[in-house]
Amino acid sequence: MNKALYAGSFDPLTCGHVDLIKRAAKLYDELVVGVINNPSKRPLFTAEERRVMIEEAVRKISHVSVDCFSGLLADYVNANNFNVVIRGLRGNTDFEYEIQMAQMNARLYEGKVETIFLMTDPSYSFISSSMAREVASLGGSIKGLVPDNILEAMNRKKMNSGR
Ligand code: COA
Repeated sequence: MNKALYAGSFDPLTCGHVDLIKRAAKLYDELVVGVINNPSKRPLFTAEERRVMIEEAVRKISHVSVDCFSGLLADYVNANNFNVVIRGLRGNTDFEYEIQMAQMNARLYEGKVETIFLMTDPSYSFISSSMAREVASLGGSIKGLVPDNILEAMNRKKMNSGR
């Protein structure tokens, strides 16, 4: 059985991520979206908030689940018997960083784990989570770039912080 992990900060999840999740879910028996909980970063949403929001956004995609993890990605992969790690590539600059990360991780995996790169849909290749956060915080529209439930959560966060 092929059990795949698609990990990231997802702060917030974007439509580019969702597109990758949909496509990866068709390729593997089980796909886990792994939300990293990195206490050294100051995310907009806590890992648990992100997990709940992602669960809602991917509810209709079959055999996809969402989990949180912290520490090394390779430790999480080894402990949960993943045999595939999915990464999205938006262009050349992603590739340079991704290949280094994949090669380092390959040394740390205990079993046979393949890193599979999927090209991001060109209509989403310019989006990043930090760009979505910045545009939204300055009053720009990110409708259509993040799932609707994420957009609502970002608007609520903005209202609660008084910005
Ligand atoms: N569509 C839209 N945006 C995308 C995208 C896509 N298909 N693919 C990536 N992005 C964006 C992300 O939103 C993120 O944006 P941001 O930098 O503005 O937040 C950016 O591209 C980088 O994405 P990614 O490389 O997936 O970074 P990440 O922080 O989301 O996740 C981990 C990186 C979690 C996989 C990595 O940090 C990790 O493995 N951490 C664990 C510690 C570890 O093991 N370290 C050793 C690694 S060798």
